[in-house]
Parts: sequence; structure tokens; C-alpha cells
Amino acid sequence: MHEQFDGIARELWSHNASWWQEGFTDGADPEYREQILPLIAKWTEASEKILEVGTGEGQVLRHLLQGRDRTLLFGIDPTREQVELAFKRGGPIRYAVAEARAIPLGNSGFDTVVACLVFEHINDLEPALSEVRRMLVSGGRFLLLLNHPLFQTPESGWIDDQSFGDQYWRIGKYLERKIVVEEVEKDVFIPFVHRPLSDYINTASIHGLRLMEMQEPAPPQGFLDLAPEYYEARFVPRLLGLLFEAL
Ligand SMILES: C[S@@+](CC[C@H](N)C(=O)[O-])C[C@H]1O[C@@H](n2cnc3c(N)ncnc32)[C@H](O)[C@@H]1O
Repeated sequence: MHEQFDGIARELWSHNASWWQEGFTDGADPEYREQILPLIAKWTEASEKILEVGTGEGQVLRHLLQGRDRTLLFGIDPTREQVELAFKRGGPIRYAVAEARAIPLGNSGFDTVVACLVFEHINDLEPALSEVRRMLVSGGRFLLLLNHPLFQTPESGWIDDQSFGDQYWRIGKYLERKIVVEEVEKDVFIPFVHRPLSDYINTASIHGLRLMEMQEPAPPQGFLDLAPEYYEARFVPRLLGLLFEAL
């Protein structure tokens, strides 16, 4: 099942590369503009050597270049179409086509590893987190940003219950570990791996990554303005930010 998922996932990411690039990068997405990129910038203020796992077309690394001296920025992603666009969009950043579970670098002494909206698409946490730790110096930081696993379960969603005049966010089967291919918008199928939050924290801990800080920000205004039906759910976070220290 896992190998089958990996093959399907690779194809889907490749097939949907332009959907991601057009809708979510280069300033197109308010959650990135107003929330995700500022949070990553804040958590990397003192970082010099940064590796991004699942870098996509490189928007996070390009953002981290602004106004800062960084010694080394390196991005890996298994989707060739993403890495090709990352090269084109430029900057003094190095890229490689590679998966999180097999990073083609020696023990590189990065002070920071970033993974932004990537690990919820990876079916096997163990090798990926082991690689993250291998890339980091002791005392280094790992920034793990996720679609909030408590609220973004496969069956979650906004319920407008007309019969009772009630509106609420349905959580879904939070404790069920599940691989799903979700139709995130018409004809766009994206692979997700749902797991409870404790899986992330405990597996990170086994691999020498200790939780230092957790952020669950409210959806930013620019997102609420785009999705009026979501306004009532503005107290339900969509993003989870976890900051780990490498022991
Ligand atoms: C939602 S996009 C996020 C891209 C980028 N981190 C950003 O925030 O703009 C998810 C990315 O994860 C990559 N990805 C999928 N499976 C992966 C894996 N096993 N290892 C590393 N990256 C993976 C995809 O190719 C895709 O570029």
C-alpha cells in the first residue's frame, strides 16, 4: 500500500505542479503572504544555513533571502516540475530533486531545516524525520508547518445545519490514520496522509527533535475575505506551526 501510494503521489504532484504554482506562490495566496511566510521569517531570524524539505518552486527560500545574509540556502523536492521552476525563479539558492527520506547530502551542518505543508503528504514519518535530524547541527532548529492535523482531517468541514439553525466545524475521525487522495478543487487530486498530532511530536522526539514552541494562528484576514462562508469558523485554526530543537 505504501509503495503504491508513493507512486501515485509522485504522479499527482507532477500532474498538479502548475495548480500549486499558480494558486499558492508568488504572492497569489493570502495565507502564505499574511501568515506562513512571516512566521517562517520570524523563526529563522538568526539562521544562516537553511535546508528546505519539499521546497516546491522555492517561494519560502526566496522570501528568506529578503533583507538577510544567509550563508547557504538549499531546497529539495521530488517533483521535477517544481525544481525546474525554482531554478527559473532564481536567487542564490541551490536545489536538488530528492525526497525527504533520502536527502542527497552528507551530514551537512544546517542550523535550520524547514518543511512547510509537506509532511502531511509523506506516508512514512520515520525516515523523513531521521533525515531532518541528520541534516541539523546540535542546537539547530526544525520548523514543521502543517495543515492543522486536528481540524484538517479527511472528513472535516464547515457544516451549516439548516434544520437546527446551527453552524459548526466538523472535526472528523481525528484518531484514524489514513491515506487519502482528496479532490481539493474540481479535477485536482492531491495525496494526503492523516495522522494525529502526537505521531509528529513523538516520532520527532525519537529522532532527537524536542518541541520548543507551537503556534495555532487564526486564519488571516485575507483568507477570511476570500471565503465568507468560513467567517464563522474564524476561531478554528487551519495552520499548525511546530518549532523543534535538535538535541
Ligand atoms: C503543498 S506543496 C508545498 C511547497 C513549499 N513547501 C511551499 O510551501 O511553497 C508540497 C510539496 O511537497 C512535495 N513533496 C511531496 N512528497 C514529498 C516527499 N516525499 N518528500 C519531499 N517533498 C515532497 C511536493 O512535490 C510539493 O512540492
